[in-house]
Amino acid sequence: QAAEKGGYDWFMRKEIYEQPKAVADTLLGRHGADGQLKLDEIRISESELRAIDKIVIIACGTASYAGLVAKYAIEHWTRVPCEVELASEFRYRDPIVGPTTLVVAISQSGETADTLMAIRHAREQKAKVLAICNTNGSTIPRESDAVIYTHAGPEIGVASTKGFLTQLVACYLLGLYLAQVRGTRFGDEIGSLAAELDKMPAAISAVLADADQVQALAAEFVDAPSVLFLGRHVGYPVALEGALKLKELAYIHAEGFAAGELKHGPIALVEDQLPVFVVVPPQGRDLLHEKVVSNIMEIRARGARTIVLAEQGDTSVAPYADVMISLPKVSTLLQPILAIVPLQIFACELATRKGHDVDQPRNLAKSVTVE
Ligand code: G6P
Repeated sequence: QAAEKGGYDWFMRKEIYEQPKAVADTLLGRHGADGQLKLDEIRISESELRAIDKIVIIACGTASYAGLVAKYAIEHWTRVPCEVELASEFRYRDPIVGPTTLVVAISQSGETADTLMAIRHAREQKAKVLAICNTNGSTIPRESDAVIYTHAGPEIGVASTKGFLTQLVACYLLGLYLAQVRGTRFGDEIGSLAAELDKMPAAISAVLADADQVQALAAEFVDAPSVLFLGRHVGYPVALEGALKLKELAYIHAEGFAAGELKHGPIALVEDQLPVFVVVPPQGRDLLHEKVVSNIMEIRARGARTIVLAEQGDTSVAPYADVMISLPKVSTLLQPILAIVPLQIFACELATRKGHDVDQPRNLAKSVTVE
């Protein structure tokens, strides 16, 4: 096993460092130099894709947070209403899906029972089902109308890392492809966004190169009883995923909140020395950026230790950050690919320091194949 870990102490750590390659492999061959997306594997005809009037994303756990990010991107690029639902909730209500609904099932393993049952239910209602999956030939893609495979390679660590990043990439590719097929007003932007996706492997490597700073943070907060994560827009699912990683691995109380909800409850939790990670939107998004900065001021005034993930050179937020983690400049919608990486490292490092088994956290399974 030591050889399989390639010199790393944990599979998870190895998988975190494999993310630039996993993302590059998932992008490979899926768009041309002309900027046109090529997703030949989507065996749903272009006319059927043009007829779609609703998209429903279903998934569990980390995959559901990839789905939440996808909602922002897909609705923005395609103008098709898009919902995200936990697979376990979807099939026990009476969801409105039909022949013009595209159900997107995201699953790293392709074997998660709730997601599988949900797609069966969707297909009974004649919806088209597209799987985003990392495991060739697994049950969910076999039972779907089409599949976009992520090419992360085998993921052994129970807590998903490269699986998540490649799910994000597949969702972006799907959103841009749908925009291309449907000819939305974002047609001109497709090429430039696809080109920006190509820069992500190098940008992830740049974030990984700053891991020392995050490792030092994990040492500092190893005894923290609770950690909060705040984000807004696509930073919100990043906050949820950052908190999930910490719960899964370090077994401490961690919660992710939408920053805009701060005054509706979370601020009551803020007390002296509480570590709060805040994902700040790129500066181009003026209004959003300003609002998140003001949230940081509010929690800092109440004694929180603010750990701010912000775009390189963001001087406006620096005065309110106890710690600044810089992220390479990127379009707002793509920022989650970079912003989650320090949070993965933080959780992995903190759990290691606590002496936990990072690859096989207590009570968790890699794939939940029963309800
Ligand atoms: C389990 C794993 C998670 C994963 C979730 C969904 O809870 O521990 O890491 O996100 O299942 O798995 P899937 O294979 O469907 O993506």
